[in-house]
Parts: sequence; structure tokens; C-alpha cells
Amino acid sequence: MTSEKPVIAALQRQAKAMVPIWLMRQAGRYLPEYRAVRARAGSFLELCFTPELAVEVTLQPIRRFPLDAAIIFSDILVIPHALGQPVSFEEGRGPVLEPIRSVTAVRNLSVERLATTLSPVATAIAAVRRELPPAVALFGFAGAPWTVASYMVEGGGGSDFAIAKAWAYREPESFSQLIELLVDATSAYLLQQVEAGAEILQIFDSWAGVLSPSALERWCLQPTAEIVRRVKAKHPEVPIVVFPRGIGASYARYAAECGCDGLSLDTAVAPEWAAAALQPSMTMQGNLDPLVLVAGGDAMRAEATRILERLGAGPFVFNLGHGIVPQTPPEHVAALCELVHDWRRG
Ligand code: CP3
Repeated sequence: MTSEKPVIAALQRQAKAMVPIWLMRQAGRYLPEYRAVRARAGSFLELCFTPELAVEVTLQPIRRFPLDAAIIFSDILVIPHALGQPVSFEEGRGPVLEPIRSVTAVRNLSVERLATTLSPVATAIAAVRRELPPAVALFGFAGAPWTVASYMVEGGGGSDFAIAKAWAYREPESFSQLIELLVDATSAYLLQQVEAGAEILQIFDSWAGVLSPSALERWCLQPTAEIVRRVKAKHPEVPIVVFPRGIGASYARYAAECGCDGLSLDTAVAPEWAAAALQPSMTMQGNLDPLVLVAGGDAMRAEATRILERLGAGPFVFNLGHGIVPQTPPEHVAALCELVHDWRRG
């Protein structure tokens, strides 16, 4: 059956006349209306776990721009929080976690309260579905186990991953206990989102690109493929997009082995390579540099058109190669939506 929603149709490999678009981190600090709600919410987690506020910020970019998908407002680090690891988001510092660095610490985490702690996200998803225009699809999401584990072990972002990598390379048996816990938690959480009304899922592996190819296979590709299998076993109809950022030629292994429906391409992937090597078997998403969106104007038109010319003929969802940055002028987002929607498969 052909979906009325262009993003879902693209993930079912139906190429419609128009290329659909949404943007990673489309709800966020570049929007003044987000900053106003964020200030009212107090803490960032309060914003994520207050359905009324999460619904409001999810819908803000949809009201402003003709985007073809919404993504539920939350964060990949709600999982460690729900497992019992203290997480906070500090102004100018990003996320701060009490680090997990031993099997004993892993054993103190528990999936028992996961569904209850994360139920406000499910409530927000159901409410967003009621408010979205009929052609706009709703994404649920989670982080992939390696990316989430790296924040859990390092205690935050902005590191060189030396501690997480040392654990993974030195003691793979014990590190795999953390990864397996995250496979369980993430699969359950994604299923909870689908049952609440999420129509598409995206799995963010933002730090996949820092590992060697064999470690990538073990800590990123296999656990992500297992999550995809578990979700598809219950909900085969829900398309899943995977974003293994920074992995270069290893995107081909994801296309062959991950079992997902779409791959989101980071900024460094050559679209002509992706069109030849990946798009015959997978829907592509991506891959405009978020800093090109900051620049806007002719530079943005030229780069976006290059991507459309190389990937637009096949199943494709226009997006960025990473999340929107806070200094992005909102009017550039409007111009990009117009450009993408005006482009036609020739
Ligand atoms: O609009 C959307 O895309 C939905 C919301 C969303 C957020 N985070 C909101 C957020 C999504 C999909 C994410 C994913 C996420 N979170 C990733 C994967 C994608 C990527 O960017 O690589 C990662 C690695 C995180 C972890 C995280 N959350 C970091 C490193 C930070 C601090 C850096 C920053 O951008 O501030 C966050 C905080 C965060 N998550 C903010 C938002 C809007 C900003 C916090 C604030 O408003 O105070």
C-alpha cells in the first residue's frame, strides 16, 4: 500500500515526484520559541518528561516550516537516566553523567522501571499524533548502544572515548554486558514508542565513526541489527532509519547486514558513491553539512542541488549530515524546504 505520507513512502522505496525533507534536531535552540519554552521548563529533562511541553516543542518546527516529518522531542540519554544512572544537562557543558566503569556498576542498573520512567515520552507521542497534519509522519528515536554507552562510561561528551575504548578493547566480555543491557532497554523503549504512535524509528549512532572496522562490527553493527530484529519481530511495518555517523565505506556493511530500511548519511559521504553503492538496496537520507545551512544563500543552493541531483532520482529523504546547530538562521530552514520541494525528479 502506498503511504500518503511522503517520508514513509520513500522508506517503502516508492519514489514520488517530490523529495520529502525533515532535519535532525529540527526542534532546538535556533528557534526563539524553543528557547522560551526551555527557559520555562527549568531543567532539560523536565522538558523531555513534561508531555505538554515536549509536544509543544516537537510541533514548533512543524508550524513554522513545511517539513514532512516531526521527531518526538526527547534525548538519547533518557535511557541511562531510566536505567538509574544520574544524568544532567548543564548550560554550556552538555550532558553530565555519573560514570559507569565496572561490571558492578552495570549490575546496579535495571530495566525494571524503564517503561514507567519513559511513559511521559509515550504520552507525548500519542498527543503529537493527534495534532500533526495528515501528510506529516512522526519519528520516534533512540541512541544506538555504543553511542549511549560511550556517554555512560565517559561521564559526558566532548571526550576522545579513551575510557570506553579501553574497556571495550581490553575486557570485551564485561563491556558486552553493558551493550546487551542497552540492546534490551533500547528495543523495549522503541517498541513502547511504536505502540504509542511513532510511525518511523531512527537509531542515532553518532560516535560509530571512532571505532576500528572490527570493533564497529561488534559494538555498533551487531547490536543495532539485533534491535532492528526485535522491533521488526513485533512491528514489521514500521520503517527504521539508522545513522552510523562517520563510518565511511562501512556504510556498505550496514546496507548489507543491518536489516533497516533507510541509512542516514553524514556530511562526509559522497552522494554519488552512496547512489551507486547503497541506494539500490536502501532508502538514503542526508547529507547536507549543517554549516552550509548556517551559510545559506548561493552556497546552500549549490550544495543542496548537488545532493538532489545525485540522490534525488532514487528513494531519498532530504536531511542534514548531522543535527542543526544553534546559530542557524530560521529563514535558511524555510529556504531549504522550498528548494527541496521545488526540485523535481527529471
Ligand atoms: O528535534 C529533534 O531532533 C529531537 C530532539 C533531539 C535532541 N537530542 C534534543 C536535544 C534528538 C534526536 C537528540 C539526539 C541526540 N542527543 C544525539 C544524537 C544526534 C547527534 O546530535 O549526534 C546525541 C549524541 C545526544 C546527546 C546530547 N543531548 C548532547 C551531546 C547534548 C548537548 C549538546 C547540545 O546540543 O546542547 C544534548 C542536549 C540536547 N538534546 C539539546 C536538545 C535540543 C540542547 C539542550 C538544551 O536545550 O538546553
